[in-house]
Amino acid sequence: MGLKGLNADFKTIMPIPQSYSFNRNSMSATVLELKDVSIFQKENLVLNDVCLEVKEGEFVYLIGKTGSGKSSFMKTLYGDLPLKQGEGTIVDFDLKTLKEKDIPYLRRKLGIVFQDFKLLPDRTIQKNLQFVLKATGWKEQSKMDEQIADVLDKVGMKTKGFKFPHELSGGEQQRIAIARALLNDPELILADEPTGNLDPQTSVEVMKVLQDINKSGRTILMATHDYALILKYPSKTLKCDGNKVFEVVQRAV
Ligand SMILES: Nc1ncnc2c1ncn2[C@@H]1O[C@H](COP(=O)(O)OP(=O)(O)OP(=O)(O)O)[C@@H](O)[C@H]1O
Ligand SMILES: [Mg+2]
Repeated sequence: MGLKGLNADFKTIMPIPQSYSFNRNSMSATVLELKDVSIFQKENLVLNDVCLEVKEGEFVYLIGKTGSGKSSFMKTLYGDLPLKQGEGTIVDFDLKTLKEKDIPYLRRKLGIVFQDFKLLPDRTIQKNLQFVLKATGWKEQSKMDEQIADVLDKVGMKTKGFKFPHELSGGEQQRIAIARALLNDPELILADEPTGNLDPQTSVEVMKVLQDINKSGRTILMATHDYALILKYPSKTLKCDGNKVFEVVQRAV
C-alpha cells in the first residue's frame, strides 16, 4: 500500500471551529494552546486559523504532505518563527509577546528533536550532553554526570557516552538526540520528523523510545509522514492540509 492509500485511511473528524472553546476545568494541565493562529513564511501564508490545545501527557502526531507547513508550525512553537497573528501559549510562555531574550528560557522547557540529529561531530556523546547542560546553567560536575547517565539510560544508550557521533548508527544518534532533549526535564517534546532519516526497523526502535518517554508522563508532539508508524502506534493526529490544521482519525478497517 502506497502512502496515498494509507493517507486515505484518515478521515477528518472535526475541522476545529474558530470559536473553539477550551475546557479549562478538566484535570490535566494545558501545555500548548493556539487560538486563531496564522503562520507565515516571509509574506506567504502557510497555515491559517489554527486552533488547538495539547494537554499534559498527550502524544500528538502532526501529519501532512511535504510543504504543508509541519516544520513552520513547529518553528512557531519553539520561537524560530515569530507569532504575528492569533494567540498562543506554550509551557506558560506567551508566543505573541515572546522576545528574543526569552527564547533560550522557552527552549529550556522544551525538548526539540530534529530529523538530522544535530549532534556536535567534534566531541563525544558525553561532551555533547555536557555542552548543553553547561549552556543552560548547570555547574556542578557530579550533578551533570548524574543527569547525563540518567538520560542515556532512558534511551538505552548508557554505555555509549564515550563514543563520537560518527561511531554510532543513525538510530543510535537519534536516541542520543532524544536524550539531549530530555536533559532539562522538558514539559513538552517537539520532534520534527525524528524518524525521517531512519530505515523502517530503526524508526520503530526510536518510536519505542518516544513511546516509553510518553508513558512516563511526558507530552510529545511529533511531525511525521511515516504512516506505517502511526498505524502501529495510533494516537491523536492533526493534519496540515490546505493551509489548515485539523484533527483526523484512523478509519476502522
Ligand atoms: N525559510 C523559508 N523561507 C521561505 N519559505 C519557506 C521557508 N521554509 C519553508 N518555507 C515554505 O513554507 C511552506 C511550508 O514549509 P514547511 O517546511 O513548513 O513544510 P513541511 O510540512 O515541514 O514539509 P516537509 O514534509 O517537506 O518537511 C512551503 O511552501 C515552503 O516552501
Ligand atoms: Mg518539515
